Amino acid sequence: MNSMAYFRIKGQQKLSGEISVTGAKNAALKFIAAALICDEPVTLTNMPNIEDVRRMLKLIATLGAEVTHDVDAHTVTIDPRPMSNFEITEDMAKSIRASIMLVGPLLVRFGKACIGYPGGCVIGRRPIDLYLKGYQRFGAEMKIMGDTFEFVSSNLHGMKFVFPIVSVVATETFLITASRAEGITILKNAAVEPEIIALAEFLNACGAKITGAGTPTITIEGVKALRGGTVAIIPDRIEAGTFVILGALTRSQIRVTNCIPEHLENILLHLEMIGASFEVGDTWIETKSYDHNLRALNIKTHEYPGFVTDLQAPFTVLLTQAVGSSLVHETIFEGRMFYTDLLNRMGAEIILCDPHRAIVEGPHELMGRKLESPDIRAGIAMVLAGLIAHGETIIGNIEQIDRGYEQIDTRLRALGADIIRVTDI
Ligand code: EPZ
Repeated sequence: MNSMAYFRIKGQQKLSGEISVTGAKNAALKFIAAALICDEPVTLTNMPNIEDVRRMLKLIATLGAEVTHDVDAHTVTIDPRPMSNFEITEDMAKSIRASIMLVGPLLVRFGKACIGYPGGCVIGRRPIDLYLKGYQRFGAEMKIMGDTFEFVSSNLHGMKFVFPIVSVVATETFLITASRAEGITILKNAAVEPEIIALAEFLNACGAKITGAGTPTITIEGVKALRGGTVAIIPDRIEAGTFVILGALTRSQIRVTNCIPEHLENILLHLEMIGASFEVGDTWIETKSYDHNLRALNIKTHEYPGFVTDLQAPFTVLLTQAVGSSLVHETIFEGRMFYTDLLNRMGAEIILCDPHRAIVEGPHELMGRKLESPDIRAGIAMVLAGLIAHGETIIGNIEQIDRGYEQIDTRLRALGADIIRVTDI
């Protein structure tokens, strides 16, 4: 990745046209992990060409899986049978946090797994205590050597796990591991995100016995083998929501296609409440131009089907353009609001009351500035802000944005945005 690359944006362009949503990053990574507990090759279609997917595929290839990635066809075939390595180094673990999911499949295949601490990222500490507890509950012995966790298990058995807090990837991790653990596993207070339902449907199509996915109680009966199969990754609801917010922000007519509007119902409800105009189809959402003021609105993030935390930063850019005071309450992560300082540098008026709460006064015109992208979602929020700001915005550290949004500059240019990717010579 070119670390000196940056986006140069000239704001205030009217946008229009159509933008197609890619497969969901937060489904793709889990389907890659799930492929490793199958006993035949798995083909994943509608795979997004993003950095996090490339990192996860590189990781499983290092473990010995055979990976065939047809980038142009957005298709990946994974054959887990040649896997021979059960060690995930600290560097590999740090390159992609979802690597923590792979301990389950490694225990299923080898009865052994080693992993370096995946580390946090800027949105918070990102602890892994639930994973360590869960793997031990499945019957693995755990040894900690410095920052490396070593797991050994003669045979994985079913268990009951009551989540003290809702955890999306931990729910998916235990769903996958339980599918090959002997006996019954019951997960309580499980996450209910759409990606979890899609994952359970895929595993059941391969012969797993999962019931209750999409509800807080999931029951899994382990099976001795799983077939392979082919499955399309569901559309990325976060990307879809980002583009709908972009349409509202630029007061443009943008048709967001190949999405599942039902998966972003709560965002659409908040867009309606703030006064944005849009129409909803079966697989598309079209924002409309409008000239009335946006109304201030309080938002509070919550696990699905609540207001999704991954769209908190993009939506806050919209709140800087609304008339009045809005309270933004980020309930899930403790480090996901520091980007508000960047918006203030652009001319917004945001008071960060504590790591979880900010008050946004609006409306304020934004001025182009030189910024760094803190993380995936705050990074795309800076792009949105740059697209409505007066003058030129430079955004560095764009590999963060490339982790979650495929060719985002090319796709936004197709809507009429004046954004170019500059790589150092
Ligand atoms: C998933 O992360 C998503 N990532 C995140 O999207 C998303 O923001 C998050 O769910 C919440 O919806 C993927 O799916 C790859 P959590 P996850 O476990 O599962 C605490 C993006 O931008 N926790 O649901 O890692 C944790 O600190 C990313 O695409 C523990 O305490 O998040 C947080 O406060 C960012 N111990 C809370 O749970 C643990 O062992 C919920 O986090 C694990 C988590």
